[in-house]
Amino acid sequence: MGKEKDIKGESDRRALLGFLWNCAAELKLLLTALFVLCTLATLLQFLPPRFLSTNPNDLRSCISPVPPSPSPPPPPPRSPAELVVEPGLIRRAFHPYGWAAYSFITMGAYRGGPHTFAVVGLSSKTLHLHANPSYHCQWLPSNSTSNSTPVISQHSYKVLPDWGYGRIYTVVVVNCTFSNPVNADNSGGKLLLHASTSGGGDLSLNLTDTMEVLEELPSSVDFSVFTSEPKYEYLYCGSSLYGNLSPQRVREWMAYHVRLFGGKSHFVIHDAGGVHPEVLEVLRPWMELGYVTIHDIRGQERFDGYYHNQFMVVNDCLHRYRFATRWMFFFDVDEFIYVPPRSTLRSVMHSLLPYTQFTIEQVPMSGQICFSNDPGATYRKWGIEKLVYRDVKRVMRRDRKYAVQPRSVYATGVHMSQNLDGQTMHKVDRMKYFHYHGTIAQRREPCRMLTNSSELTADSNPYVLDNRMQEASGAVKRFELKTIGDRLLRTRQ
Ligand SMILES: *[C@@H]1O[C@H](CO)[C@@H](O)[C@H](O)[C@H]1NC(C)=O
Ligand SMILES: *[C@@H]1O[C@H](CO)[C@@H](O)[C@H](O)[C@H]1NC(C)=O
Ligand SMILES: *[C@@H]1O[C@H](CO)[C@@H](O)[C@H](O)[C@H]1NC(C)=O
Ligand SMILES: *[C@@H]1O[C@H](CO)[C@@H](O)[C@H](O)[C@H]1NC(C)=O
Repeated sequence: MGKEKDIKGESDRRALLGFLWNCAAELKLLLTALFVLCTLATLLQFLPPRFLSTNPNDLRSCISPVPPSPSPPPPPPRSPAELVVEPGLIRRAFHPYGWAAYSFITMGAYRGGPHTFAVVGLSSKTLHLHANPSYHCQWLPSNSTSNSTPVISQHSYKVLPDWGYGRIYTVVVVNCTFSNPVNADNSGGKLLLHASTSGGGDLSLNLTDTMEVLEELPSSVDFSVFTSEPKYEYLYCGSSLYGNLSPQRVREWMAYHVRLFGGKSHFVIHDAGGVHPEVLEVLRPWMELGYVTIHDIRGQERFDGYYHNQFMVVNDCLHRYRFATRWMFFFDVDEFIYVPPRSTLRSVMHSLLPYTQFTIEQVPMSGQICFSNDPGATYRKWGIEKLVYRDVKRVMRRDRKYAVQPRSVYATGVHMSQNLDGQTMHKVDRMKYFHYHGTIAQRREPCRMLTNSSELTADSNPYVLDNRMQEASGAVKRFELKTIGDRLLRTRQ
């Protein structure tokens, strides 16, 4: 990876040099012109003002252009040096410098309707744990007259959806709701977020950082999306993908779920470094058919949150695609949604329409024990064909995954959402997910142990044969071949 980056940097440099070389003549001309102009401006300052028809300050600005400063650092309060108040009593001084974590890092800002917005980002965790920073939004119409009053959000609240898992940063979803529709005439404008520390960090300061989080160009908002039928029936919001993922496992997962979710579905994959070239190769056929969108989120790695900022990523996905789909699924790429053959996904989902959210129970599968009556053929089999031993140890509870109807959801998590309108259903019999722990982030043959018995104990853990996924594998393979041809037949682990 590092090597590729260097090569790219090198070619960028060459391109720049080439550009400069080609433009040398033009550049010389430009520089001369600038020089003359600035000399003129310097001279003009010494002329008495009555000789001038223009303001010399306008011209002087070409000598020292004012750079746009993003947000000024906190002014260090002028603290005096230490002071001897009276003999035996010294008042010590404290001198603050710098700011250890950003007040806000934006990932995305999205409309949730004619008068409401969500801003998804990160913020200093200590600030949120031990103080009460506050937020509000402001709408700046692009067609504003100088005397029109600024539109300030009526209500704003923040949600911290990461259950305290954050590290330097915690995930924040700010909900800004205005009392009236904004940009209702579609003439365009900008949404500003004001983030105030409210005395967190320094009790004597209430620092407010203002940032532009969303721009709407004239006639760019389609207000009908908030009320019309969604484009997709099912949309998958993936968590951050990281590590040396197995292309073959990803290939199986894609074919299986495109077949299950059908033509009106879409898969959003978040690449935090896990989509290496061979994984990209197995995703590409599905990208070409419009089933997959990859978001390269490697840039978030600079900000130390929980597990490649997965809580921020799922919330960004929720708000970004909220009106694009009827149902949104949240689970991982080593997990397979299962619906028993006598029902269909469609019928199960139809029965769940009264619920905003439902959680899905796990079927834990061994990621190492494989069925074999023909060991020579094991290597060629798909993971879901050969990993057929279910872990039947009794445990208190296992992780769940979930799906929501996103229009009624305001923030979300990795195992469920706790910010929604409507009911959550936890007892869905006709849907499970098979979890193949430890199979996705390794590049070798998963089978460590071959057996043909119907039950066994390995590492003092009981397993039974469960071939429900195996039974689907033939149809999945045929579906892949029929849909994208044989281009992935030679995929490796
Ligand atoms: C903000 O919260 C309100 C009240 O819960 C909700 O009606 C609105 O849809 C939310 N907006 C977004 C963008 O989630
Ligand atoms: C700007 O606002 C004025 C009055 O509010 C209106 O007449 C005009 O059409 C608007 N222009 C655009 C481009 O919307
Ligand atoms: C800090 O400033 C913001 C924005 O002006 C305000 O809403 C908030 O109440 C202030 N906090 C305190 C503690 O004064
Ligand atoms: C299972 O494997 C044993 C030897 O490992 C073999 O003797 C037996 O025939 C196999 N049974 C089946 C049903 O394949």
